Amino acid sequence: MRLLKISSLLLCLLGGVALAQRETDVVVRDKTVVQRCVLVGASARMVAVGMPGGFNYAFDGMRCAPVEVWFGGFLDFNGETNGRGGNGCKPLGARRSLGMDPVPFRLRDPDALPDSVLFRGYRRNAQTGEPTFLFEVDGVRVEQRVSSSGADCVTLELVFPGGEPVEKFYRLNPSAHVLVELGEGIRWSGPGILKIAAAVRKAEVKIQLKASGKAFVREVVELTGADLYRNFCSACHSTDGTKLIGPTFKGLWGREEVVTRNGKSGNVTVDEAYVRESILNPQAAIVQGYEQVPMANFSDVLTKEQIERLMDYLKGLE
Ligand code: HEC
Repeated sequence: MRLLKISSLLLCLLGGVALAQRETDVVVRDKTVVQRCVLVGASARMVAVGMPGGFNYAFDGMRCAPVEVWFGGFLDFNGETNGRGGNGCKPLGARRSLGMDPVPFRLRDPDALPDSVLFRGYRRNAQTGEPTFLFEVDGVRVEQRVSSSGADCVTLELVFPGGEPVEKFYRLNPSAHVLVELGEGIRWSGPGILKIAAAVRKAEVKIQLKASGKAFVREVVELTGADLYRNFCSACHSTDGTKLIGPTFKGLWGREEVVTRNGKSGNVTVDEAYVRESILNPQAAIVQGYEQVPMANFSDVLTKEQIERLMDYLKGLE
């Protein structure tokens, strides 16, 4: 019941800000959760990691580095599961970038991009579930762990199991942090550039990020009725009277239609029940003259609330 304690603690800290949980939220319990996903607003596929206690980060396999962290809830998977998929999932907290460097880890020369970067995935600790990311830069094997010892605090640990005696560098975003605690054998060699001495087998830095001032916020982007229309309906239904694949929505509400239902033709007046049926079960009644292209079924795509919002929007169309 550790989760309960943690979440009630969070709620206390929040002092009343609701951390409502949705069905599509991926919740972290007493083990670290690792989830491959596309993060909304990020280009690449990431490995998202949620740790008990509310520290989360995204590791980019292309850049072989953690690129973003957030504190609070883990992920809302709604965008990945809403039928169309691939919209990405949303971190449930204020996102902080750790830097945009193409490959932050470098050998010998901090300004030269490596020739080869190989992401080797990760292994997980059997007890805690915590991942250690594995990659190879110009033939040097690197193991990286990411953790946090408190709010706005990120610890990066780099281990070099091969023990190659070469100087190594790690590029941080110089404007993202307020304080960096350097472990043994690490020095600054320029703004945001850490130099790791050749003999070091395990390098550790603690980064104190600038306070975001809005940790633990759920950032919900709710699509309005107009957004939903634009995304899902506008390809076939106009709002200005133009005839597309389907009838126009201009003046939809209250309109008289001739439809074919169960093979018989009859009249309907467009109302809430009819529109709801058109969305959930479009083949039940076919508008005459529009038999060529069947309308898609949206029952798995739109939530109940979205359908309500969409109908409110359609009702308002003169
Ligand atoms: C692929 C094209 C297509 C898309 C996308 C589409 N529709 Fe349709 N829709 C049709 C066609 C064709 C008809 C007429 C045939 C029928 O009644 O099934 C229709 C009919 C309707 C009707 C009945 C209209 C009338 O005049 O009686 C409603 C209401 C409707 N659609 C709502 C929606 C909504 C809401 C969306 C978006 C969530 C949507 N449709 C998306 C093709 C589409």
